[in-house]
Amino acid sequence: MTHCNNMDLQSHSTQAIQRLGIGSYSEVFKINIDKPCQPPDSSVTTELAGCILCAGLESSHRDYAIKQITITDKFSIEDFEYEVRCHKFAYEQHPAMFTYIGPVWRTELNDPPLISSNDTPAVSNIVVTAKPSDLIQGPPLGYAYLVTEHMSHLDLFSYYSNKQYVNNPIRPYMKGLLLALLIILDTLHNNLNMVHGDFRDRNIFINYRGPGWKQELLYRGAMFQIDIGGFEVKLGDFGLVENIHPGRPSFIIRDFEFLENIYCQRENWQYMTDSKAEYDAIVGFIRAEFMLDFYALIAKIRQPTQTNKEARRAFWFNKHRLLKTSVYYYELPRRLVDRYLELVYLA
Ligand SMILES: Nc1ncnc2c1ncn2[C@@H]1O[C@H](COP(=O)(O)OP(=O)(O)O)[C@@H](O)[C@H]1O
Ligand SMILES: [Mg+2]
Repeated sequence: MTHCNNMDLQSHSTQAIQRLGIGSYSEVFKINIDKPCQPPDSSVTTELAGCILCAGLESSHRDYAIKQITITDKFSIEDFEYEVRCHKFAYEQHPAMFTYIGPVWRTELNDPPLISSNDTPAVSNIVVTAKPSDLIQGPPLGYAYLVTEHMSHLDLFSYYSNKQYVNNPIRPYMKGLLLALLIILDTLHNNLNMVHGDFRDRNIFINYRGPGWKQELLYRGAMFQIDIGGFEVKLGDFGLVENIHPGRPSFIIRDFEFLENIYCQRENWQYMTDSKAEYDAIVGFIRAEFMLDFYALIAKIRQPTQTNKEARRAFWFNKHRLLKTSVYYYELPRRLVDRYLELVYLA
């Protein structure tokens, strides 16, 4: 991993760096790189080019997101390197499904962070979920950085938490959105052999491309042009990724969490379809093809005194015991896409 202790990020931009999000171990900032210190060219190696940031950028984007990760005992540099390796591999194989990931570097031990959240104004519709200090105990061991493409409407959770979409004609179109998500899930498992481990609304990024724009995704040799209301949807945040390895405890069920998000948070999703009938068809599909099995698994370990919430919580803690089957890795994602096409998307 390349080290850098003297980079001035703000000197690459005429605009202020803004804060986009805060996670448990990381903060994410938006930077508009309109003053690169050299032309972006991914073929130039960082050693030769001098500037880690500019040399590694893909020229087609100008707005980027920089994730500043605090390295601690619990969140190590090895975890970070694994996250980056998997993210890069996924993006290289399927750039239309996963967020672009560019330059990556870390600062020296005990160096201060390159970006201080005190100096950066927040993007107006930011939803703060945790402060890094909530989890980090003791002085940080250092900081690591990764640059991704900036997604204009952040993540789905931030999007619908702001409720700005309710009367806004520009919003993701749910029927297409769900097809894209199911194809991404199938590709992740059946093509990349990866468990993402955190496939849910907060890690599903959305970017508005313009009226009439359609997302092109390949599924089993066929190219689908998917109407998501002019939005592009991509999966990001590979912080919990692992290789599929039957028999080993895994985060596999968390790759289906987006289905639960849609199913359980009707107040957020009902605005994203054209008609009530279509909305009912989508929810009915999720119930029949996923939720019923999911509830049956929860029922298996449920204690009579537990509330629904407690039972669900117990389930998340016991998931690796319950799911020893390869169905969740390979068969279910494929079946979900095929059934969705048949029952909802092409019906
Ligand atoms: N490329 C991006 N474009 C827009 N917003 C982003 C981007 N990357 C991260 N964010 C915002 O920051 C939040 C946290 O980023 P994420 O990569 O998911 O980190 P964490 O590992 O802390 O969950 C996201 O939920 C989103 O709101
Ligand atoms: Mg995240």
